[in-house]
Amino acid sequence: MDVHLQQRALPVRRGTARLTPRGRRGHPVLPGGLGRSTFAVGADSPVVVRGEGPRVWDADGNELIDLNANFTTLVHGHAHPLIVRAAQRATADGASFGMPSRPEMLHAEVLLDRLPDYDQVRYSNSGSEAVATALRVARAATGRDKAIFVRRAYHGTSDHALATGGEGARRGVSRAVLDETLVLALNDIDALVRAVAEHDGKIAAIVLDRLPNRAGLLPLRVDYARRARELCDRHGIVLVGDEVVTFRLAHGGIAGEDGVRPDLLTLGKLIGGGHPVGAVVGGADLMAEFDPRRGGALEHGGTFNGNPVSMEAGRVALDLLDPVAIERLDGLGDRARARLAAEAGDAWEVRGRGSLLRLFPVAGDAAAWQLDLWWAAYARGVLLMQTALAALPTVLSDGDLERCVDAIAEAAREVAARRAADGDGSG
Ligand SMILES: Cc1ncc(COP(=O)(O)O)c(C=O)c1O
Repeated sequence: MDVHLQQRALPVRRGTARLTPRGRRGHPVLPGGLGRSTFAVGADSPVVVRGEGPRVWDADGNELIDLNANFTTLVHGHAHPLIVRAAQRATADGASFGMPSRPEMLHAEVLLDRLPDYDQVRYSNSGSEAVATALRVARAATGRDKAIFVRRAYHGTSDHALATGGEGARRGVSRAVLDETLVLALNDIDALVRAVAEHDGKIAAIVLDRLPNRAGLLPLRVDYARRARELCDRHGIVLVGDEVVTFRLAHGGIAGEDGVRPDLLTLGKLIGGGHPVGAVVGGADLMAEFDPRRGGALEHGGTFNGNPVSMEAGRVALDLLDPVAIERLDGLGDRARARLAAEAGDAWEVRGRGSLLRLFPVAGDAAAWQLDLWWAAYARGVLLMQTALAALPTVLSDGDLERCVDAIAEAAREVAARRAADGDGSG
């Protein structure tokens, strides 16, 4: 065998010895032991070692049904054979290149087939990059700086996107960015009209997610979305629809529902089939901002933009998420929400749409209740998001769904009883 292809033992790393028994806790070579602030669940966060289909296994050997799905990304579960094969083939043919490659073009064709109102797409490596890039297009096209967001709606980790969060999220964001970011309450039409009037001629973009999770997983009202569209038309503002999460809910996403067509869409997560991806989609007019043949085009690169592995895996993921798959997920979601509403107890409210659902305490410290629920569901073999959001994958069997609902309902009742005993919320 070619010496370069021989398997060699990996060098033992200095830090390995410092892993806690069975690797159960985070590693001290990572700040806080973790790689993302969204992983934080308290001091003793379990570590995952493997995923297959709708399941993951942790370092203690626990098996869980994964409704976290890497924060809604893995709409077909882990290691779907067709997606794995596509990624393997793409890797074998060269994982990334310094020139255009066909997988990017094929992915764009498949994506735009689902979005007939749009002409072109520019890829990046995350939803955060996609939102930041869409904002830059809006600023370049309008010659203005300000952008309107919904309070607490999450749009990633760019400075502008973090400005929508609370004090903690805004730490480290420059005063200049905070000043250009107008953050308004969800569905407050009067506030939107006032902000546009007050900052007339200075607003480049309104950024909307039709079902913003961190803002409470409550839908943007149709009249709000339509008014935003009207204001954009009247005042020359670019409407950006963030579909990084919601694209899983309908074949062409939900940003354009009710006759509201955003000028730009931002995508990510599922469209990479579990590999890093982000995308800005738009009409030819705005997307011309990226065209390097045009004078004054935007500078936009990215070493891994449109890399063949994400593109090929993502194309298969998109193909598999056809209307039939989405309809089945809608049915599973409706069943889960109905059962949880009936069985989780009066202390909880169940919200969501399609394959997304989330539990909220009717009173008390929501984040604390939801984190407790994360642990209580974990103990019963179900992995939620730390905000108690669940994303159902297409590979979930009907039996698995019922098991998940049993576990979450029982966990919810346990948390409510404990919190009531501690005097937090209505219990
Ligand atoms: C609505 C929305 N937009 C943007 C992002 C950022 O995507 P990424 O984490 O890929 O940067 C997220 C991430 O969860 C999101 O939920």
